[in-house]
This record gives sequence, C-alpha cells and structure tokens, in this order.
Amino acid sequence: MVDSSQSLLDGPESGPYHAAFAGNHLLSLEALYAPIAADMRAVDAVIRERLHSDVVLIRQVAEYIIGAGGKRLRPALVLFSAGALGYRGSDHRELAAVVEFIHTATLLHDDVVDESDLRRGNQTANALFGNAASVLVGDFLYSRAFQMMVSVGSMRIQQVLADATNTIAEGEVLQLLNCHNADVDVPQYLRVIRYKTAKLFEAAMRLGAILSGAPADIEEGLARYGMHLGTAFQLVDDVLDYSGEEEATGKHLGDDLAEGKPTLPLIHAMKHGSAEHAACVRHAIEAGGRDALPGVLAAIRASGALDETRRHAEAEARLALEAIAPLPPSTFRDSLVQLASFAVARDF
Ligand code: IPE
Ligand code: IPE
Ligand code: MG
Ligand code: MG
Repeated sequence: MVDSSQSLLDGPESGPYHAAFAGNHLLSLEALYAPIAADMRAVDAVIRERLHSDVVLIRQVAEYIIGAGGKRLRPALVLFSAGALGYRGSDHRELAAVVEFIHTATLLHDDVVDESDLRRGNQTANALFGNAASVLVGDFLYSRAFQMMVSVGSMRIQQVLADATNTIAEGEVLQLLNCHNADVDVPQYLRVIRYKTAKLFEAAMRLGAILSGAPADIEEGLARYGMHLGTAFQLVDDVLDYSGEEEATGKHLGDDLAEGKPTLPLIHAMKHGSAEHAACVRHAIEAGGRDALPGVLAAIRASGALDETRRHAEAEARLALEAIAPLPPSTFRDSLVQLASFAVARDF
C-alpha cells in the first residue's frame, strides 16, 4: 500500500530547476534530486561529451536546446530506478543521457509540428534556426542516442529503447490525426499521451531495473510507475497550456488550442459545459488558432475542467505510488514518492 504519511498533494513547492528561465525559485527539484546529485552532474558531463560533432550547426542547435536546461526528469528516473535497486555500475549514467537525447529529439520535432516558438524560456530552435535544422538535428540526437545505447551492449536495453522511440513516434502521429477533431474521446486522448509521453518515462524506469538485474515483478512495478507518472505529467502539461505562467513553464500558453488539439481540459469542457460553451470549444478545436482563446478559457473555467484534469492526474499518481510500494525503503524511493506529488502539483 501507499505510505499514507506522504499526502499526494503535499508535494514540494514548485519552481524551475537549473533552467535559463529559472527565475527566483530553483529549489524544489534540486531537493528532490539530492540522492542523485553527483550522478546528475556526471550525466551532464556525458551529455556534453556525446553532443560532439564536427558539423558546427549540429553543435550549435544541440547545445542551444540542451544548454537551456529543462527539468531533466527522465534521466533522473533512470538514476532513481537504478539507485532504488542498489545498482553499482556506471551504465546508468550513459543510459540517462540516452533518454535525455531521445527526449530532446522529440522536443525539436514537436516544436516544428506544433509551430511553437518558446521553449525553456528561449526562442525554440525552429524559430531561431528554422524547421529544417531542427528536424535534422533531432535526427542527429536520435541516432547518437542509438550509438550510445549500443555501446552498453545489452539486447534487452536496446529493445526497450527502440520500442519506446517507436511508440513516441506513433503517439505524435496519432495526435496529428486527432488535431481539429472535436469528437476525440477520453480513451483516444489517453492513448496519445501514453504513447507520446508516458512511454519514455516507463522506459527510463525499466532501464534502471534491467541494469540492476531486478526480478520481473519488480521491473514491471517500476515500469508501471513510469507509465502512470508520465501520464500524470502530460495531463498537467495540458492543464498548464491553459493556466500556466509563461515565466514558469518557459512555453507560450495556448499552443494546444492554436493547433486544434483535443486535450482533456477541452474534452471535459465540451462534455460538462453549457451548450453554448460546448459549441464554442468545438468550433475552436475545428478552426484552430488563438482567436477563440478567451471563450475557451471561460468554458474551461465554468466547467471546472482544469481541476478535473488535475484530479485525473492525481489518480494516475496514486497508481504510480502503488506500483513502487514493494520497493525497499531508500532515499531514492522517497524521491520517487515525492516526484508523484510533483507531477500533479507542479506549475512548471
Ligand atoms: C515537455 O517535457 C514535453 C512533455 C512531455 C510535456 P518536459 O516538461 O519534461 O520538458 P523539459 O525537459 O523540462 O524542458
Ligand atoms: C509532448 O506534448 C510532446 C512530446 C512528448 C514530444 P506537448 O506538445 O504538449 O509538449 P510541449 O507542451 O510542446 O512541451
Ligand atoms: Mg508541443
Ligand atoms: Mg504541452
């Protein structure tokens, strides 16, 4: 069972972690990462080293986005998972960097597809260097990640990462198909976020278990934690797209509406709002753009759609906690518990 002394919503105070847009509160993730602080620094060094290419534009674009920081959540999961199982080698650092490279490649591609122009508090790479450079450097990062994972020499690990990368691509394509479709239902929406986001969280957790030679039930528990955590994380990302502070998220509000993405806040507002509000949201999804944003925000507010979406995230976070209940007590496990709260309560 879940440790009830740790209320799910009694999470750490939110604030950006070592990001260019960090502003005034750097603390919360840093505290959470305390058990892996030395390894995280080592992962940063691996990242810098492996970014190298003789092609200057690759270095420029890759260093531009990676240097802007980000929460480094997925590499942290690899380290926590390995740490919680007493792993003693050094491959976890390489794999943590691999996972961050895959994540970064998806962001480079995602910002092109979503036509976003702010990320990590800076202009997106596509806004600064153009779509072509972003797509191609994304490809570089994917392929560099594959070179690195091969060097670890485990077929199982290669399989997990190849499958995760493939599933992310499926998720992004499914999402593309759902754009401007106001009839997308909750299961269809959940499928997209499990694929595009939760799968990499799941893989990150699984890697730590595989490296540690954990028994199958423990590996599955950690993987399930990652899947539920990633789902909660994306649910809240979709809340923040309507309610966040750009200073904190480092991204523009309203990008999802501009792309006509039927995310849970909108699905909820259509289902539980007045006929007038439902029609406004439906039209906004079908048309895309930002013109309808004020009306959509009113519909979201009136229907309590953001609270409802966070409640859904909270339920996912509880499932994540249940999945790691069998882990022996450790500071790593404590951080995984706190991360579940962070995923729900975060504002960045
Ligand atoms: C952004 O992920 C993409 C989503 C899955 C929502 P993060 O919010 O982890 O991005 P960074 O790495 O911290 O910038
Ligand atoms: C997450 O979806 C994208 C990936 C998993 C690549 P979003 O499109 O919501 O992510 P942000 O908001 O641009 O970071
Ligand atoms: Mg996006
Ligand atoms: Mg988003």
